[in-house]
Amino acid sequence: MSDQHTRPPVIGVIGGSGVYSLDGLHGAEWVAIHTPFGAPSDDVLVGELHGVRMVFLPRHGRGHRQTPSTVNYRANLWAMKALGVTDIIAVSAVGSLREDLPPGSFVLVDQFIDRTFAREKSFFGPGLVGHVPLAHPVCPRLGDAIEAAAGDIGQPIRRGGTYMVMEGPQFSTKAESELYRAWGCSVIGMTNMPEAKLAREAEICYASIAMVTDFDGWHPDHDAVTVDQVVRVAGENAAKVRHLLQATVPHLAAPRPLCAHGCDTALEHAIMTAPSQ
Ligand code: ADE
Repeated sequence: MSDQHTRPPVIGVIGGSGVYSLDGLHGAEWVAIHTPFGAPSDDVLVGELHGVRMVFLPRHGRGHRQTPSTVNYRANLWAMKALGVTDIIAVSAVGSLREDLPPGSFVLVDQFIDRTFAREKSFFGPGLVGHVPLAHPVCPRLGDAIEAAAGDIGQPIRRGGTYMVMEGPQFSTKAESELYRAWGCSVIGMTNMPEAKLAREAEICYASIAMVTDFDGWHPDHDAVTVDQVVRVAGENAAKVRHLLQATVPHLAAPRPLCAHGCDTALEHAIMTAPSQ
């Protein structure tokens, strides 16, 4: 899936809770995409921003119809790849596992712990076996662009943090929440895995903006998380994250060679299966 040429970027945005559309796209059009894995979460919104081709997909579908476990992650990533997406910025509502990340905080996560167990996680399978590297699951180049854009618009954002990915759909028990804190996790959510893994298999650079909506279930001074709280804070954050996305695009607009971090050449040394004769 890789080549040696400099190419214009195509930026994909996967919107989470509270982010079901993207404003300001020129020539915006919702289009249906069919994939070998079935339908993505919704039609995708395609258009242009600052001269850059954009592809937006609401992870849960408009109207929030897919649970974290029923999102068709393989179809979503396939659709992005089929539309030529080179860079994905994922946006997600998360709970905080740290006192210094109160609701309203934005975090550019750089690590994940994947505790999901009821999802298809790979494009590989019997007949074609592959193992991509994942020690560094997000693209630092995209992180630099988002951090610079946040600086441009005065949006505070924490660089780095571990996102615990749980299956859900129920929120965590207090004991689980405490366990993840003891493991050093910063935030908790239900959706960035297998999304980040599939982006790597698809050789698409991936970054994740986590928007904190609550203190999960561990904080002695705060009530345990409820959907009302998640929806309210995600709604308050939505305009800010859209502004941040719009400010990020100019930082990524220039045609670029292959990613120096290897995200878009991840398959080069990944395939175990012998070529057929
Ligand atoms: N999404 C938003 N808040 C969350 C939490 N506390 N746990 C899991 N997913 C979330």
